[in-house]
Amino acid sequence: MPPAALRRPTALLTAASAAMLVAGTLSGAATSQAATTTQPCDLYAAGGTPCVAAHSTTRALYGNYTGALYQVRRLSDNATRDIGVLGAGGYANAAAQDSFCAGTSCVITIVYDQTGRNNRLTQAPPGGFNGPAAGGYDKLANATMAPVTLNGNRAYGVFVSPGTGYRNNSTNGIATGDQPEGMYAILDGTHYNDGCCFDYGNAETNSRDNGNGTMETIYFGNSRGWGSGAGNGPWVMADQENGLFSGVNPGYNAGDPTVTHRFLTAIVKGEPNHWAIRAGNAQSGGLSTYYNGARPNAAGYNPMKKEGAIILGIGGDNSNSSAGTFYEGVMTSGYPSDATESAVQANIVAAGYAQGSGGGAALNTGSTVSLRATTACCTDRYLSHSGAAVATAVVTAAGSAAEKANASWTVRPGLANGACRSFESKNTPGSYLRHQNFQLYLHPDDGSALFANDATFCSQAGVNGQGNSLVSYNFADRYVRHYAGTGYIASDGGSNSFDATALWPDDVSWVVTAPWTP
Ligand code: AHR
Repeated sequence: MPPAALRRPTALLTAASAAMLVAGTLSGAATSQAATTTQPCDLYAAGGTPCVAAHSTTRALYGNYTGALYQVRRLSDNATRDIGVLGAGGYANAAAQDSFCAGTSCVITIVYDQTGRNNRLTQAPPGGFNGPAAGGYDKLANATMAPVTLNGNRAYGVFVSPGTGYRNNSTNGIATGDQPEGMYAILDGTHYNDGCCFDYGNAETNSRDNGNGTMETIYFGNSRGWGSGAGNGPWVMADQENGLFSGVNPGYNAGDPTVTHRFLTAIVKGEPNHWAIRAGNAQSGGLSTYYNGARPNAAGYNPMKKEGAIILGIGGDNSNSSAGTFYEGVMTSGYPSDATESAVQANIVAAGYAQGSGGGAALNTGSTVSLRATTACCTDRYLSHSGAAVATAVVTAAGSAAEKANASWTVRPGLANGACRSFESKNTPGSYLRHQNFQLYLHPDDGSALFANDATFCSQAGVNGQGNSLVSYNFADRYVRHYAGTGYIASDGGSNSFDATALWPDDVSWVVTAPWTP
């Protein structure tokens, strides 16, 4: 039995109190962490479809929740810290994370379950896809790559780059078989790809593809491998195994639109031979229904054979080439009514999600910059290339034109994610800074997804308090570092010499200067 602080409210709410809760949510704009005492899981309970899993790194999902939201692990010494709320039913205590992770980097190790059922999410184990031979457990999300504010309160989401995944194969109370359930998730509608499969919801308990109908999750992305909707995507679809479904057919549904809200409410719910997709802008307005009807026109989906595991950021068989950002989500027992979901959407809007800042200098796309080292040894050195090799080099006003151009980089939208950045060589157009076997190189863009991932870096405030740090998009515990003069992506501690903890905060912090070659 979890401690009292982690237990969900036990009192069942009456229809009358439900109405009051909804009315309170609609009329009371949440302008401080204490202003909202009714949260999404209170609304689901009032509607008779209680939460059986409640995950969020940004806020409490019950009005009386005072427990931990998530756990981070510090790379410098592997110490862990639970991150809780500012008060009952309140926002995440992001300042606790900031101070615990200062001068190093942190990954999210656990997203706790607020229902008291211990349906927490942890690092996903090997599965049918990406099994042990492919490297074992999925990666953990960098804890600072998805900064947001909720009514002005700083918080962090779960930034899933390819290879990242969370799972729980031993759950309590999640729907199995053809039992009814609902779920919502708040996602970043601008962070997605076409890999399989950025999912949140119900999956197989053995991390294997156990056949049609053995999962039921929200999917978000622009995969056309199975179903699709109107436009070019991304779309909210339902992963029901061996198919991302936009509607009744295992193919196209014109009624499932492309949705790119910065903050997106995505909903999937299912009951015997009936399911629905709904979505809306998490910052304003209500929900729309994109599909509401029978199970897919293909064998195996009626009745469903749900197994009751929970996944985040991966497919049922641990397919992990997808990308996205998750802020909060729940799963319910029972098929929620549209009215309950409308009340939840009003609560979400009132939570006031807005873009946060990772800090550091702006790296405006199209600009050209130079990146100066901040380690005491090396403050006259800049990140430079010499042919394909990437290292730091001393550059002065008296230096050659080649030395200056080698140290100048044109800032491009990240090849794998526009919110991050890629660095194109000033004097070798078409060639970008990329990592390979954790070392940095200048290579021509070959158009592959691997190159795009390897050449994308997400900027944050410099770890040592100076300038900026650049986090590898696909190895999010690794930062652009100089070590013995050579360029690497390095973690703060690890098996490689260039992962040395000594000087790591300085070696990964770069002052963004005017370019040596404009
Ligand atoms: O249904 C789409 C995907 O197919 C599932 O997520 C995965 O288990 C399988 O590869």
